[in-house]
Amino acid sequence: MKKLLSLLFIAILFANCTKEDKVVGLITDKAMVVSARVEASQIGSDILKKGGNAYDAMIATQLGLAVVYPVAGNIGGGGFMVFRHHDGKSGALDFREKAPLSSDKDMYLDEKGEVIPGKSSFGVHSSGVPGSVAGIVEVYEKYGSLPFKDLVQPAIDLARNGFKVTKKQANSLNGTLSRFKKANNYQILFDREWKEGDLLQQEELAQTLERIRDNGRDGFYKGKTADLIVDYQKELGGIITHQDLEKYKAIWRKPIVFDYKGYKITSMTMPASGGICLAQILKSVEPYDFSKIDHNSTKYIQLLTEAERRSYADRAHYLGDMDFVNVPIDSLIAPKYISERMLDFSWDKATKSSDVSHGKVLGYESDETTHYSIIDQFGNAVSVTTTLNTGYGSKVLVKGAGFFLNNEMDDFSAKPGVPNVYGLLGSTANAIAPEKRMLSSMTPTIVEKDGKLKMVVGTPGGSTIITSVLQNILNVVEYDMGMQESVNKARFHHQWMPDNIRMEPNGFDSITKANLKTLGYELLERNSLIIGRVDAILVLPNGKLEGGADPRGDDAAVGF
Ligand code: DON
Repeated sequence: MKKLLSLLFIAILFANCTKEDKVVGLITDKAMVVSARVEASQIGSDILKKGGNAYDAMIATQLGLAVVYPVAGNIGGGGFMVFRHHDGKSGALDFREKAPLSSDKDMYLDEKGEVIPGKSSFGVHSSGVPGSVAGIVEVYEKYGSLPFKDLVQPAIDLARNGFKVTKKQANSLNGTLSRFKKANNYQILFDREWKEGDLLQQEELAQTLERIRDNGRDGFYKGKTADLIVDYQKELGGIITHQDLEKYKAIWRKPIVFDYKGYKITSMTMPASGGICLAQILKSVEPYDFSKIDHNSTKYIQLLTEAERRSYADRAHYLGDMDFVNVPIDSLIAPKYISERMLDFSWDKATKSSDVSHGKVLGYESDETTHYSIIDQFGNAVSVTTTLNTGYGSKVLVKGAGFFLNNEMDDFSAKPGVPNVYGLLGSTANAIAPEKRMLSSMTPTIVEKDGKLKMVVGTPGGSTIITSVLQNILNVVEYDMGMQESVNKARFHHQWMPDNIRMEPNGFDSITKANLKTLGYELLERNSLIIGRVDAILVLPNGKLEGGADPRGDDAAVGF
């Protein structure tokens, strides 16, 4: 009896332990914003509290991030928004940067036709024409409800009054100092040693935001801000002109919508590859019964890897801005095509990427983008991924205007067969042309079930964005995880070339890794390697919201 009691005690203890181990994110009744920084999430949530909708909060959060998270939050970059209106209507906005009018497909090649290292990814030559301000104004004109100035003011105040630099942020800034110096011809505000708790005030940025508050898109694409951009471009030998700025337009697009085992998934379409690749990979794995495949087991990693390999090979070959090239979207996501692509998949042995297609690859650079997810008290949902491309973009801080310009030109294929900073290959479909938008991996996504909103999800991470979103969808849909639990789980990634599986260190057990190696997979684990920073919201069965804010960054959920 004593023995039985003690066994019972152990069982109860274990049950409690596992319950405690299951991390749960912030739970709120009605509304939530999850973003890379608590200050930005708070700004967005405050707008919702004032009676604003998710679109109002999108504008305020985007601008808040431009202030408090300059590594990726931006007005000098671009991004994508996928939304689902409370009535079920969905849509997408493309505010991706575009190539300047005087750009050229060979602009990053030397006389011998070789790619000039770093030219497309660093300094004044690497910037596309920014889209973020056109994006927020477009969102406002279509769906905004509070006065525009009220949506911009919190970011102005934050820029002027300042905020405390976090430890991660201080490290990130300090790690970029030499490149700040190299990219600019004056000492920029960020060019000093930082420590945790320092106050960062950005008066010039506050004034730029005031011009946007007072003049909307003209506060950025015309007048003083435009003059400051163009003057500094001229000083540094860049090519963005007044005409480039005036001609920039954000474009409403029809999102990619598909079914996965009864879940309706809505994701971004071209020039973001995210939706197409997500559809291809999910459709490739849909026939499999995940109740027989343990999460993050050898079989799980194998199956996803093989689907990812095939999809990224297609990405490299077929995808580019559809306003310029023909992309066979319907054929690429047709069930028959996808099942044929998976025919040569075997549980017994890794497929070699060189048998799927060819390519030569380089390594990776550190990267930064940011994603935020919002659900409002009216039931509207927005999923936004926005970026300068790599951390602090081109590192060029517009003189007198206080914001970084992107280095998004590197997302084009500078030369077919030569990889970009993410190791991604591209074909002529993604070659540079004036006013063309560079191919993106961004994957802002919304999941529905039985006509009801289920999840809002997205992440930064360059080429790993698609596979991080994929894993979080599978975590929730196939493995019944909560949102925070899902976001915390270790992630892995394969992108066809280079032919290896990138894995978060310490996230996978040694037997699984040994099995994968035996099957012929090459594994890449680096000490500091993290994959994505997923910020997501899950609608729980009782209608409450659970936030998933990625602990890999300073991300935070705020709501009510
Ligand atoms: O659009 C893209 O695919 C890239 N410019 C995204 C960059 C990114 O995610 C960097 N993040 N960590």
